[in-house]
Amino acid sequence: MIICANFKANKTRQETRAYMAVVESFVSANDISDTVIVFPPFTALDHDPRNVLIGVQNGYPVANGAFTGEIALEQLEEFGIKTILIGHSERRHIIGETQEQIAQKFQFFAEQGFVIVYCVGEPLEMREAGEDVMMTYIERQFEGIDLAYPDLIIAYEPVWAIGTGLTPSNQDIEALHHALRAKTSAPLLYGGSVKVENAGEIMALENVDGVLVGSAALSANDFCDMIAQAAELNTQKGE
Ligand code: PGA
Repeated sequence: MIICANFKANKTRQETRAYMAVVESFVSANDISDTVIVFPPFTALDHDPRNVLIGVQNGYPVANGAFTGEIALEQLEEFGIKTILIGHSERRHIIGETQEQIAQKFQFFAEQGFVIVYCVGEPLEMREAGEDVMMTYIERQFEGIDLAYPDLIIAYEPVWAIGTGLTPSNQDIEALHHALRAKTSAPLLYGGSVKVENAGEIMALENVDGVLVGSAALSANDFCDMIAQAAELNTQKGE
């Protein structure tokens, strides 16, 4: 299982340090063998990871250069960062990243051997327009993306489920993950309003290999609870 916490623009450096101390000791005390990834803001990357991977929520696809306000490879390398989130819906829909820019970013960080957590997901109107429209929409989010990239992790996150408390039915998650499984052998995460109360049942679904959690992961204890639920499922799912 792969359990990820996406802080977005939350937590200071000091808060991240306290959070990481809790999660690191939980993972080590409980012999967790699952992959745990935390995506803090750029200002809090100075953590020396032991059992938990630290990733970035974004990066600019160059080694360095004249790109005001961006963080490039050279700055990430200084912190030993080798994991990146690409294609998150907030970057697509709020920041306005295009599929072309996203694909370029993917290609650059894949060439650098990063673990890439690549997000896809449909807005509500696409889901309501029916299966075909929805799948075509998601299909387009794979344009320019190498689905055979060995360090790829895919996160299916319906836009309407992110930060809203709404989630698709288990049956809908399973159907979507089944369709994604036909396209790639990469691990498939579900994201969108995952919390302590539903993490276990979502991770137990077929073709769900983990979760990407936003708001509910801001509590270190809740995140540890979800890590424990993942660990329990390993025996059940034969991992
Ligand atoms: P959420 O966010 O858990 O707050 O819905 C998930 C995400 O955006 O990755």
